[in-house]
Amino acid sequence: MSAPLDPQTRAELIRAAFAARRFAYVPYSRFKVGAALLADDGRVFTGCNIENASYTPTNCAERTALFKAVSEGARRFTAIAIVGSYEGRVNELVTGPCGVCRQALYEFGGPSLAVVMAKSEDDYIQTTLGELLPYAFGPANLEDAPAQ
Ligand code: THU
Repeated sequence: MSAPLDPQTRAELIRAAFAARRFAYVPYSRFKVGAALLADDGRVFTGCNIENASYTPTNCAERTALFKAVSEGARRFTAIAIVGSYEGRVNELVTGPCGVCRQALYEFGGPSLAVVMAKSEDDYIQTTLGELLPYAFGPANLEDAPAQ
């Protein structure tokens, strides 16, 4: 189950994701991604992918947005919009969050986080993080830690 995401908020998130995508630093893949994450207090945090000559330190747009948000005090989120494509190309596929980002988002969004994978404001797939990461390992798994 996901909290309802009204059409206007969804459109705003998609627009914000496209705006963030402009800042993608992608000299290696040329694949530009933008994300916009809605916190439960109404704030929207955006991010782009940031690549690295050493490849491994590359940060996805979703985690850029998430880490910006958590570092500014936001801990709970209701929705994320993601857009990705090569510069100047029309998307064939929607860009879904990679496995690492699904896990990172699960920590703070849980299964109800609405995930909007968009090609444009009116062409998108909306699902939930629970659908994208079933049987996730999360904070609840570590709740009953034995005393040291
Ligand atoms: N990328 C993202 O930013 N988010 C995703 O969900 C998928 C992949 C980035 C990482 C890399 O900079 C480029 O897209 C190609 O993999």
